[in-house]
Amino acid sequence: MSDEFARDVKKGLSSEPKYLESKYFYDTEGDKLFQEIMGLSEYYLTDCEFEILHQNRDKLLKAFSDAGNPFSLVELGAGDGLKTKLLLRHFHGHSADFTYLPIDISPNVLNVLSYELSRDLPGVQVQPYPGDYFDGLDELNRKDGGRKVILFLGSSIGNFQPDDSLNFLKGLYQRMNRGDQLMIGFDLKKDPHIILRAYNDDSGITARFNLNLLNRINKELDADFNLDNFYHYPIYNPLNGETRSFLISKLAQTVRIGYLDQTFHFHMGEPVSMEISQKFDLTMVDELAGRSGFAVEANFFDSRRFFLDSLWKKP
Ligand SMILES: C[S@@+](CC[C@H](N)C(=O)[O-])C[C@H]1O[C@@H](n2cnc3c(N)ncnc32)[C@H](O)[C@@H]1O
Repeated sequence: MSDEFARDVKKGLSSEPKYLESKYFYDTEGDKLFQEIMGLSEYYLTDCEFEILHQNRDKLLKAFSDAGNPFSLVELGAGDGLKTKLLLRHFHGHSADFTYLPIDISPNVLNVLSYELSRDLPGVQVQPYPGDYFDGLDELNRKDGGRKVILFLGSSIGNFQPDDSLNFLKGLYQRMNRGDQLMIGFDLKKDPHIILRAYNDDSGITARFNLNLLNRINKELDADFNLDNFYHYPIYNPLNGETRSFLISKLAQTVRIGYLDQTFHFHMGEPVSMEISQKFDLTMVDELAGRSGFAVEANFFDSRRFFLDSLWKKP
């Protein structure tokens, strides 16, 4: 991992403007902080999607099992599986014939998830894959050509750079067979104050989550970032639905990354782009499905219509 991590950090910090890739947020400390974020009152996304999955668990079982047929339930970026566990428990309780395949780039979070599932739901077959989304899917396709239902929850689809989400969906389409399904969580456009607060909580956990990536670079790439010299700055643009978070350099400073044997200069006030969290409307969702080749089978909303889980099929 270190070589790839180092290469991506070098590329991001040598760019103009500077950026770091949000997939690197998730080391052991990042996993912990993200779990804290999910418990924050400001972070409405988790509660909304939990409500959707809970309210629609029967419909989802019927749709996924396609009249009682076996299926692989693949989850991209499963994290701690907080919401998925409710589906697994329900499906297992109704004797559905399925295997759960969580894919996550963080081996730590996957180990915890696997342990908890073997303890709490020992009857569920679990085959975890630590690594990147497509590597996990390619590995599964080499081993098993059976029917797949892919979950991509938590509005992770919003974390791609503009245009990359469509390319990602096309990549998923290529790795699926006719009749396979894909359910994606989309955070919807809403009151900008509510959205911005979700990325700027009063207790500062989201700030720590962002700053932790500098700490990870310090630890894994022998760097000397002083975390006190940066602050977290999120914005929401209601015109295009983009939330972006930045780390801003408080002063002119030079940071050395030992692993790269290189220094990087930051101006006072210079932003490092950290994460995009795109917010969607139904037109955008339909367009993404259509342009990537999928047919929308059903849309599931929470009671406030803050969030959407959209179920698609490869026709
Ligand atoms: C925002 S969390 C969402 C977790 C969970 N899906 C949810 O809805 O609560 C994103 C998860 O995706 C994982 N992840 C991010 N980029 C990834 C990638 N390129 N390949 C595999 N996993 C990735 C992270 O490690 C993290 O656990």
